[in-house]
Amino acid sequence: MPKTLKPETVDAIKTLAKRFPQPAGALLTSLRMAEREIGFVDAEVCGLVAECLGMPPAHVWGVFTFYTTFRKETDGKHVLWVCSTLPCALRGSERLYDYLSEKLGIKKDETTKDGLFTLKKAECIGACGTAPCMQVNDDYYENLTPEIIDQVIDDLRANQVPARHVTV
Ligand code: FES
Repeated sequence: MPKTLKPETVDAIKTLAKRFPQPAGALLTSLRMAEREIGFVDAEVCGLVAECLGMPPAHVWGVFTFYTTFRKETDGKHVLWVCSTLPCALRGSERLYDYLSEKLGIKKDETTKDGLFTLKKAECIGACGTAPCMQVNDDYYENLTPEIIDQVIDDLRANQVPARHVTV
């Protein structure tokens, strides 16, 4: 069945686009709006956004594929982004990434068999002062330790929002 965006999302994207000299100014935010509604972004979703903005689908696809942080259809319910940039790396993020990888039994960009977790490496997520950091969907977990990772994974498996987080 072809994907569609809700009329209110289409309206919101078109309204947003009017605030920019060029519709491309609204592209990233529009892709995020579509991602939140559909659950992921793919070529078809790019096409829907392109139609809303009156832009060539290839242009939208080019921007989408440049950024790595959009959810993919194959991603699990919770996407775990472990920061691997220098400040986090100096504070042990690689070790924590390996811990998480072993704990979940998956490697980079893989999803657990139950579809709950996808593991990814991120470039700086802008919380270097509280490195090492991990982003899970829209939530940040900072000053990360194996104990915090255990708590986050346990809480998410129990379908609970982990207590220690900062929402972005
Ligand atoms: S380097 Fe990890 S948040 Fe900036």
